[in-house]
Amino acid sequence: MSATSSPHKFEDAAYTEEWVAYNEKQYPQRAVFIEEFVRTLKLQDGALRVLELGGGAGRLAEAIQQECHVDSYDLLDSSPAMQRLARTRLSSSKVTQLIKADFSDAKWPDLVSSEYDAVVTMQAIHELRNPAAVPLLYGQIATVARPGASVVVCDHLPVEPRHRGLYMPPSAHLAAMAAGGLANAEIIRVSDAMVLVRGEVTAARPDADGLFFWSRA
Ligand SMILES: C[S@@+](CC[C@H](N)C(=O)[O-])C[C@H]1O[C@@H](n2cnc3c(N)ncnc32)[C@H](O)[C@@H]1O
Repeated sequence: MSATSSPHKFEDAAYTEEWVAYNEKQYPQRAVFIEEFVRTLKLQDGALRVLELGGGAGRLAEAIQQECHVDSYDLLDSSPAMQRLARTRLSSSKVTQLIKADFSDAKWPDLVSSEYDAVVTMQAIHELRNPAAVPLLYGQIATVARPGASVVVCDHLPVEPRHRGLYMPPSAHLAAMAAGGLANAEIIRVSDAMVLVRGEVTAARPDADGLFFWSRA
């Protein structure tokens, strides 16, 4: 499957603000999935160092910080307009660090910390616009997270023909986690045309060549 370009104009502040409001209205089920993120992270012991990829305006970050014991929260996004909204929403947070980076660029791991306890992403993994590239992203995540760290991913499901090659069915999420070297991949929730999956970083690093060839399949 090949990559397609994103139709979003997240470089445009007015578009981004309007899109965030539309997204919240269009997908009220996000609230239930955000609760599932929180529930899943609460199962981990100790204060969490969290990385969120494509964190947008910071809604998930806010909920996780309110409900979980968070030591640091790195919110990575490529859109300065989104980051401005996140900065406002999280203005009282003492643990958030905004990181401007592109998670489709092989060098993004150099711009973040390491030894994360949890890496989360919501409605953003499809922004790779290429499901075949997802295992490679998981392999990169494994280089910045500690063994045993949770990788928790939520995205839309493909329910219309135009979603093919954009959103992934639950089985493809599990396969991508396994191909990306994550262990114990499991589906946490499927409902309302969305899915939440969790995998675990292992001590063994994934084979970079294997991931490269999987991503070209
Ligand atoms: C559909 S929005 C979801 C935002 C947020 N996760 C949420 O659920 O509200 C996708 C987000 O991913 C960001 N994004 C898209 N492609 C990206 C990339 N290659 N690297 C980093 N961020 C990206 C966008 O700027 C946007 O904030």
